[in-house]
Amino acid sequence: MVISLHNFSNKMTAYTKQDVLLQATDVCLSYDGTPILHDINFSIRNIVRPGVSQGQVISLLGRSGVGKTQLFRLMAGLQKPTSGSITINGNKQVEAGDMGVVFQHYYLFEWKTIYQSLRMATSQNPLLKGNEKEAIEKWAATFDITACLHKYPQQLSGGQRQRASIMQQLLKGSKFLLFDEPFSGLDVCVLDKVVDMLLQVSMADELNTLIIVSHDIETSVAISDTVYILGKEEGGSTIKKEIDLVERDLAWHKDVRRNKAFADTLDEIKASL
Ligand SMILES: Nc1ncnc2c1ncn2[C@@H]1O[C@H](COP(=O)(O)OP(=O)(O)OP(=O)(O)O)[C@@H](O)[C@H]1O
Ligand SMILES: [Mg+2]
Repeated sequence: MVISLHNFSNKMTAYTKQDVLLQATDVCLSYDGTPILHDINFSIRNIVRPGVSQGQVISLLGRSGVGKTQLFRLMAGLQKPTSGSITINGNKQVEAGDMGVVFQHYYLFEWKTIYQSLRMATSQNPLLKGNEKEAIEKWAATFDITACLHKYPQQLSGGQRQRASIMQQLLKGSKFLLFDEPFSGLDVCVLDKVVDMLLQVSMADELNTLIIVSHDIETSVAISDTVYILGKEEGGSTIKKEIDLVERDLAWHKDVRRNKAFADTLDEIKASL
């Protein structure tokens, strides 16, 4: 267990890193002998802050073609690594369905209303039993899609579809939520809303763990506690750098973008891509 205390605006922020929630061990992936990913090792731990229900937010960054989507698919259990393993909650191998996955093109059932889709998601979550309707209404209000509930996906804007799609995964009750490019193609106002929403999701449960794959470095780093940078090497891509933003006091601050250390960290990340 790592115990840290650090200073920000004269306030001491105490946190501990506790149980491992997700562990990648010696993960390699190749296609017909061509290595894509090699020796990927990292662990995501439960960050605990006294008095705060603090989830985890991780950014996975890297250049185009480096293997982000491949690693995303492995973490989602949609594909098996050639060797190595990805485990969650102790030593369970991750399988399809263990994680909520929000793809870049927000898949919704075109023939169901948003409410019907969300109702189906809640039926997979035993914790919501008896309170399904209330949960849908509460999150719809938070995500600003109350007026969309009885519409079909094709009657929604891109931003509304995205929020409905995030809500759908959230209501299934998975603590792990994977997002592939959640910020692409959004206008500035909608972008702010999505950022806010992801932060709310991350604070909704101590164990909620968001993993974001994005090209929008500034936005994803601003809401993350940890950054992994995937870089190419001879034998395939691997995690070249891990940045602990909590240790740098750059996590959990709303105005972090105004912080000089934040700008320096962005420069550091860009230089290592
Ligand atoms: N089915 C496949 N067979 C062989 N090679 C593949 C396959 N799928 C992906 N690749 C290769 O794996 C590498 C990583 O692709 P991936 O889609 O993960 O990149 P990425 O980092 O997500 O890029 P982008 O930022 O452009 O989305 C690429 O070189 C790609 O050509
Ligand atoms: Mg990709």
